[in-house]
Amino acid sequence: MDSVRTIDWVDGAVEIIDQTALPDEVRVLRLSTVDGLVDAIRRLAVRGAPALGVAGALGVALAVREYPDPAPAIEAVRTARPTAVNLARGVDRAAARISAGPDAVLAEALRVRDEEIASSAAQGRAGADLVTMLCGGAPRLLTHCNTGALAAVVGGTALAVVAELHRRGALAGVVASETRPLLQGARLTAWELRQLGVPFRVAVDSVGPFLMARGDIDAVIVGADRICANGDVVNKVGTYAHALGARRAGIPFLVVAPESTVDTGTPDGAAVQIEDRGRDEVLRFRGTRTAPDGVDAVNPAFDVTPYDLVTAIVTDRRVIRLDQGDRV
Ligand code: MRU
Repeated sequence: MDSVRTIDWVDGAVEIIDQTALPDEVRVLRLSTVDGLVDAIRRLAVRGAPALGVAGALGVALAVREYPDPAPAIEAVRTARPTAVNLARGVDRAAARISAGPDAVLAEALRVRDEEIASSAAQGRAGADLVTMLCGGAPRLLTHCNTGALAAVVGGTALAVVAELHRRGALAGVVASETRPLLQGARLTAWELRQLGVPFRVAVDSVGPFLMARGDIDAVIVGADRICANGDVVNKVGTYAHALGARRAGIPFLVVAPESTVDTGTPDGAAVQIEDRGRDEVLRFRGTRTAPDGVDAVNPAFDVTPYDLVTAIVTDRRVIRLDQGDRV
């Protein structure tokens, strides 16, 4: 995967790997309008916090080329999804260069891309060192959602750690929880782990805490969409249950994210807007209704793991040992 970029700027347009088509097909989407990019973000054709940051920045580059007054288009990109702080951050960084002209906007957007690439490698190394220190040379890890190259540009966050451990010969295997309702774990993480040659199995989300309780898992490792000032971690729904399971089993719960996901301007998880993706994703599976007609559903796309369940947060620059009193 490292050679293929999940998102990039190619000949005047944004190109992404269409994550709605995986694992069946590796399809590249070329997005030359802001409307197309916003639609791709909303459909999760491009997704994952670091990738959304790059999408946001490149969206501003598209907007200043497409519109004499780009402000409404930029706002549409900025608000396409509310929870991952990276999206608004990427937009704001590129938009801050508008007065210097379209080339300056694009240059800033490409810097956001390049920083995420470098950041992934740093997270991989630092996270692998920490896992080995905490769990020894052959840990069995559980991960949730997709935090690999598909969630970034290359490499990823928590899955960059998994890949680095595997490269070092310091990993026994991984359980990837499927990540209802859109199956980022079963579709995307499984696809990436197979490419990496990592031994893994897919499990339903709800079995995570039981696997931990019976001693099958040595640590949980996840990414984040926003890390709040108090250390609360906002990530894909289901993360909180894994954190509770890890605490009960007495194993480390580790969060890996770029500094671009750390949001000290948000005091805690209660202050974060959690995206609600509506009923259809829960009540239907690949277009087929699975619940009785006319029933309603609740579908928050993310949850909040309180800081006191988090052992450590690894970024590209720091290891924050919340369990030892470190502060974000
Ligand atoms: O709804 P998604 O697929 O965009 O949610 C993604 C996640 O929750 C990831 O765990 C998070 O963005 C970290 S990705 C490196």
